[in-house]
Amino acid sequence: MNTPIHLRSGGTSLVVAVDGGRLPRILHWGPDLGALGDDALADLQRAALPAIGDSAVTYPQPVPVLPQLAEGWLGRPGLVGDTGGRRWAPKFRDAEHEVADTDDGPVLRTTALDPEYGLAAEFEIQVLAASGLVRQRAAIRNDTAEPYRIDSLELALPVPPEASEILDLTGRWALERVPQRRPFHVGEWARASRGGKPGLEHTLLVVAGEAGFGFREGMVWGTHLAWSGNQVLAAERVPADTRHLTAGEVLLPSEVVLGQGESYRSPWQYGSWGVGLDDLAARFHRHLRSRPQHPSSPRPVVLNTWEAVYFHHDLDTLTALAERGAQAGAERFVLDDGWFLGRRDDTSSLGDWTVDPDVWPAGLEPLVTRVRELGMDFGLWFEPEMVNLDSDLAREHPEWIFDGGHGPGLPSRHQHVLDLGHPGAYAYLFERMSDLIGTLGIAYIKWDHNRYLLDAGHTPDGRPGVRRQVEQAYRLMAELKAAHPGLEIESCASGGGRVDLGVLEFADRVWPSDCNDPHERLEIQRWTGLLVPPEMQGTHIGAEESHTTHRTHPLDYRAEKALWGHLGVEVNLLTADDETRAALARWIAFHKEHRALLHSGEVVHADLADAAFRLEGVVADDRGEALYAFSVVERPSTWPPGRIRLPGLDDERDYTVEAVHPGSAPAAGVVLPPWQRDGVTLPGRVLRLVGIEAPSLDVDRSVLLRVVRAPEM
Ligand code: GLA
Repeated sequence: MNTPIHLRSGGTSLVVAVDGGRLPRILHWGPDLGALGDDALADLQRAALPAIGDSAVTYPQPVPVLPQLAEGWLGRPGLVGDTGGRRWAPKFRDAEHEVADTDDGPVLRTTALDPEYGLAAEFEIQVLAASGLVRQRAAIRNDTAEPYRIDSLELALPVPPEASEILDLTGRWALERVPQRRPFHVGEWARASRGGKPGLEHTLLVVAGEAGFGFREGMVWGTHLAWSGNQVLAAERVPADTRHLTAGEVLLPSEVVLGQGESYRSPWQYGSWGVGLDDLAARFHRHLRSRPQHPSSPRPVVLNTWEAVYFHHDLDTLTALAERGAQAGAERFVLDDGWFLGRRDDTSSLGDWTVDPDVWPAGLEPLVTRVRELGMDFGLWFEPEMVNLDSDLAREHPEWIFDGGHGPGLPSRHQHVLDLGHPGAYAYLFERMSDLIGTLGIAYIKWDHNRYLLDAGHTPDGRPGVRRQVEQAYRLMAELKAAHPGLEIESCASGGGRVDLGVLEFADRVWPSDCNDPHERLEIQRWTGLLVPPEMQGTHIGAEESHTTHRTHPLDYRAEKALWGHLGVEVNLLTADDETRAALARWIAFHKEHRALLHSGEVVHADLADAAFRLEGVVADDRGEALYAFSVVERPSTWPPGRIRLPGLDDERDYTVEAVHPGSAPAAGVVLPPWQRDGVTLPGRVLRLVGIEAPSLDVDRSVLLRVVRAPEM
């Protein structure tokens, strides 16, 4: 028996059985087990063999990362494919394994064959050094002259029986990332996206964990697929109690048909584990931050025009807005939808990416010049993959619009989808966008995607074009960035409809939601944060009366909730009074003062007993300082709120805690506890285990707590 392979990195151990010519089988995924000798590894494998009686399960345990029906697996199949009804029950074997140490962390590479079917498989399973994330992918190659059609390729990460609860997310427009929990019963809990993007309702992760797990406690394991197209994430428990988290692309009919020598490779399936969700999320954050392309410059404070002026563009108004933005401290001016040929509302013009001379007779240059004089850089909104039928582009090239055989399909927001699989359509977009980026010196693109792909067939034969669309969108982002070094991209899709590690290879931030209401944003940002670190989440201060929920909130609450991410302003500063603008400027200054901490530290959430309260914060990597916000989101039935315990600090060091009010002095609705008059100095252990009395607040009010490590005596 070959000794199991032990990949150790970033605090994670992955022990993989590799004997008998079989595919890799994960024996342990989770906390570092320390150095294990060959005998211990062999015994670990033997100790993992179940007692199987007569008529019990047939499948070999543990189950390979690609579970196979031909080996007795009756759960979600790893590979579904065929050649005209034959070659449909693959059985890969003769596996050969090799471990390599890469800069990113150790990787196990496996090749295997199904000689009867003429198929070859390759697997890569890696533990990432910077984060302790596990990731794996597989490739299937057809070695015969007969075409081989792939319907699905899903890989599996096993979780132990202690993982008895499942958490995933759902949502809708302006209310993304709503958590839902359920017991991990026998059966499948699958979350699929079929709209050509993950979607607003998509779960970023499927998480399984110990009963009652929270942000700070309970072992959790979660999976994510680094892909911006159709996909399915699932948690599956079979009657013999194998529990898996699976992930793979959802392929449309004949979307992948392999000719001789051709391969299909799955996107990376990521796995993160942790003690509590904060730990699980921190691995994703560390991973993103460890990449060479991670934005390293201070995230410029954005002024976005959308909720200020919508489609009503004119030079004087937008210049005045830019001036007020700069006065408040904005560093980037983003001109949203409405600047291109004939775009007066959302019924027309997508595709006509030329500056509208009726609205902008001298082009955008005068605005851009003024924006630069004011010390800001310039960003522009595009929705490259979309087209209105009422556009010159659609009239000239109707064949570039997706058509599954019944015409361009249902409109949504009056728009349809441009098929980037047509070389001409791709070249047109690259030319139009690159020209504008070059001539205007655009620093940042807000890249939108507001319609799902439905019957997205490639003309003239109507074959599915969804998968290629994702690859072409990635290619367009990559080629624009290569042609314009320093260009930044935001991934927006009606808000948070395209949030994944696939697009984040190219995008520098996501737009988590069109909802700027701080009451909703608190939750949306908290759950988007399971995957995306604060500096990659756009967080804008919206209008007093939210444009999406029509709730009203004081500036201090709106600003506090936007403080944590890549800050922006979407308030109409032309109608804001002097005091509002001054308070806004104070918040922006406070953000700039603390953004190095906010955009590099570890995000923490306290598990509070009362659902009326929230406490979350960011702790510096060296534990030298932290910032927390305590918020009240509903009216609690007991009063005052009681003590809050501050997570994430160094137990052994003393910290001073003070309440800070960057915008305005605490007003009606905020009653502060006595300790805040002079602040307190306490050891991290006391703050973690005993805590401090919380302020008494009305609903949708918060208080910031600034925590600084006392000098060592
Ligand atoms: C989408 C985006 C918004 C805004 C509009 C413009 O809805 O999510 O932020 O850019 O499009 O039309």
